[in-house]
Amino acid sequence: MASHCNTQYFLNPRLSFRLLALVGTLTWHFLVTEGAGPIELRGEVGGSVTFSCPVAKQKLKFVYFQRGEIFVNGYYESKNTTQLAWKNTRVDDDKTTMHMYHLNISHHGEYQCHFQYSDNSGAQKQVIHLSLTANYSKPALSVHCSDDNHRYSCLVTCASHYGYPSKKVKWNEPAIQMWKVLNSSEISDPKTMMVNSSSTAYFNCSNGKTSVRCSVGDVSSDMVSICSPRDPPPVFHNLVIIAILATMGISIILILLLYWRCKKGQRGAAAVDFMLIHGDVRKCEEEATVHNEKNEATEAS
Ligand SMILES: *[C@@H]1O[C@H](CO)[C@@H](O)[C@H](O)[C@H]1NC(C)=O
Ligand SMILES: *[C@@H]1O[C@H](CO)[C@@H](O)[C@H](O)[C@H]1NC(C)=O
Ligand SMILES: *[C@@H]1O[C@H](CO)[C@@H](O)[C@H](O)[C@H]1NC(C)=O
Ligand SMILES: *[C@@H]1O[C@H](CO)[C@@H](O)[C@H](O)[C@H]1NC(C)=O
Repeated sequence: MASHCNTQYFLNPRLSFRLLALVGTLTWHFLVTEGAGPIELRGEVGGSVTFSCPVAKQKLKFVYFQRGEIFVNGYYESKNTTQLAWKNTRVDDDKTTMHMYHLNISHHGEYQCHFQYSDNSGAQKQVIHLSLTANYSKPALSVHCSDDNHRYSCLVTCASHYGYPSKKVKWNEPAIQMWKVLNSSEISDPKTMMVNSSSTAYFNCSNGKTSVRCSVGDVSSDMVSICSPRDPPPVFHNLVIIAILATMGISIILILLLYWRCKKGQRGAAAVDFMLIHGDVRKCEEEATVHNEKNEATEAS
């Protein structure tokens, strides 16, 4: 937004000449009285903020806001300043209150309000400092555990996006676990200047299950459980499931087989009894199998 207005300022030589003349007039021909301390304003990226110039209820020759040498918006008795005004600003009818919308990081910084009463007393200046912040996203934890040589450990990464100003990831300290921060980074987007903050920590799981949480600025992540014996590495987990399923399958087949053999055995035994009674040994040999080998042997001898 600001850059757009700045571009316009430089691209329009006639207007910028007039503005420079205006600024020159103020700085060279008047003794500028400065207001007490700077006014501190706070705003959020994407939000809006209201600037107020501390003027008395008197007729004004001019009252306007500027940033460095660049006109932002305001009123000048004998000049039309509308074309120079930043597009994201609006001045109220009272002329001393300015609203700035669609704030982005480039709007962060120092502004001044210049004013002079119509009675030709000296020009006055008030410094206004605008600080911008952007809430970091809720930090997200990603956990990668491994079980190398039966030494169970977890790498946990905490990441939060699009905040301002730059803030480091803070880890809550798990009481029982040995751990250390491996790396941290705060990467600023060159265009928007918004910051991504992240950190990776190593946890030695030799003391068992624990919980971790991280925070960036005022925003905390959820509490996440790590090093849990019930949450072994995924490969191990899958193998266990496969083993259980296979065991169940084999058991069912075995039970069915046993049941089938038992049924068949009963039928076979009944047949043998019947055939022995009737003295039909050949039929018995055909029907009864393994089960009746003894009988067959006796018969043959
Ligand atoms: C940013 O955080 C502050 C403090 O928690 C909260 O008051 C504000 O509403 C948040 N802003 C946005 C845009 O979510
Ligand atoms: C931090 O360390 C982890 C583990 O060594 C690695 O995967 C990650 O890429 C590192 N991150 C940065 C920003 O260096
Ligand atoms: C910040 O994080 C977002 C989301 O992961 C990503 O799209 C973006 O490229 C990151 N920006 C920088 C400057 O690393
Ligand atoms: C974890 O800590 C124990 C001692 O508490 C140590 O014996 C073991 O080597 C450590 N494991 C790793 C992977 O550093």
